[in-house]
Amino acid sequence: MIRAMEETDLPEVLEIENESFGKEAWTAHDFLYEMNENPFGRMVVYEEENGEITGYMGYWDYDDRAEITNLAVRNDKRRKGIASRLLTWMTELGADGDWENITLEVREKNERAIALYRKFGFEILARKRNYYGAEDGYLMGRKLER
Ligand SMILES: CC(C)(COP(=O)(O)OP(=O)(O)OC[C@H]1O[C@@H](n2cnc3c(N)ncnc32)[C@H](O)[C@@H]1OP(=O)(O)O)[C@@H](O)C(=O)NCCC(=O)NCCS
Repeated sequence: MIRAMEETDLPEVLEIENESFGKEAWTAHDFLYEMNENPFGRMVVYEEENGEITGYMGYWDYDDRAEITNLAVRNDKRRKGIASRLLTWMTELGADGDWENITLEVREKNERAIALYRKFGFEILARKRNYYGAEDGYLMGRKLER
């Protein structure tokens, strides 16, 4: 089930965040800011039938477009289609709404994420030099058909 992230999800979410991003991981404060303060911020979780949180996604919901800010799946649950379900949910939401496109930024060396986004029709739109300190990033995007 995909639902809005709640504060009580944070212990599980932070474990996934830390194992996924190491020293670049968001803190509880970063998640709370997106959930409660940023007017454009949205956070959703993927909850298994047994109640465990095994993935989540963040995005900024603007009138005509959305930008993915965070996406991660628990290490032992990867390659089972959870990120795909989150992205399918998002593209369907966008197609029902007013988004014309979805964009995101990804590290140039994050090949599995780039493969995932390509599978969902995202293309590299620009290279962002030193976007991640010493590492370049890619701006990727896809249009939504309505
Ligand atoms: C990237 C990530 C979110 C993918 O989540 P996932 O649930 O394992 O992805 P899915 O099972 O839905 O995979 C969908 C497709 O993505 C691509 N993909 C996913 N993992 C891959 C890997 N390790 N190697 C190559 N391609 C991969 C494949 O095209 C895959 O389709 P396939 O299984 O039919 O070949 C997950 O690996 C993760 O949390 N990584 C750490 C955090 C991160 O890098 N997030 C993205 C930041 S921009």
